[in-house]
Amino acid sequence: MLVTMKNILENANDENYAVMAINCTNMEQAKAIVGAANEENAPVIINISPRQMKAHCEPELLVKIVKHLAEKVPVPVALNLDHGIEYEDCIRVMEAGFSSVMIDASSFEYEENVRRTKLIARIAHDRGLSVEGELGHVGVAVNGDDGKLDLYTDVEQALDFVKRTGVDCLAVAIGTAHGNYPKNMIPKLDFERLEELKNALKMPLVLHGGSGAGEENIRKAVSLGINKINVCTDLFKHGRQAMADAIQANPKIDYMDVQIEGQNAMQKFIQDYMKVIGSSGKYNFSSTSLAAEVE
Ligand code: 13P
Repeated sequence: MLVTMKNILENANDENYAVMAINCTNMEQAKAIVGAANEENAPVIINISPRQMKAHCEPELLVKIVKHLAEKVPVPVALNLDHGIEYEDCIRVMEAGFSSVMIDASSFEYEENVRRTKLIARIAHDRGLSVEGELGHVGVAVNGDDGKLDLYTDVEQALDFVKRTGVDCLAVAIGTAHGNYPKNMIPKLDFERLEELKNALKMPLVLHGGSGAGEENIRKAVSLGINKINVCTDLFKHGRQAMADAIQANPKIDYMDVQIEGQNAMQKFIQDYMKVIGSSGKYNFSSTSLAAEVE
């Protein structure tokens, strides 16, 4: 069923586990994600970024695919805009039928971030949808942003930010970054800061850059209060590799069979990740949460 991110993440916050938020650009990925969630009895969040919407799958189309798949399974599925920067993109996905939106104004100075996030949060909440904001800035791994302390989330500022914007969950910068880390280096995470953030905010916290961050880091981040982990790069890598292997093993393989190889590999990757972050077997939410199913 399609639900808001808030339904999913409040439960994760209460029970101290994390939910995958996975980028999805086509039907095979949507099937891999919902299939994995169903097999694992795990809640899941489907993400698409504005760039991916433009290049691969319009939000109006993705809503149809995700709703169709989500309606057939009992597990809760949320559909979220990943890194919505432009106002128009945020509004467009809400009108298309997304259940959640991330407004990412983290590249702006603080007051502008507050202003933009508060506006989108108000519009989304009026429609019964949930909102993620970002404070500090999770940059790009190849730029070395994972180690830039000035990008990390400040605890006092985070308290003020949440109070003034009303976001339902907050993406924090504690040392991960998006994409491949140079030479597969595992980033060093600021767990002390994460602990302080969780103690202060007591709300669902989000970790971006869930690829290549190291299993030990991920497990520890979840134990200290991360409830949503965004993953894109590693999912696409697994799909691509399986397709390349299938073509190498049988150069005459049919196009449709190549797609299925990619889909199966992505589903397996997701199921394994769900086990690590504790969302496997967690779909039994209270009836109140389930009542908030999105139409
Ligand atoms: P990765 O591509 O590093 O997994 O990051 C995904 C992400 O954070 C999307 O918001």
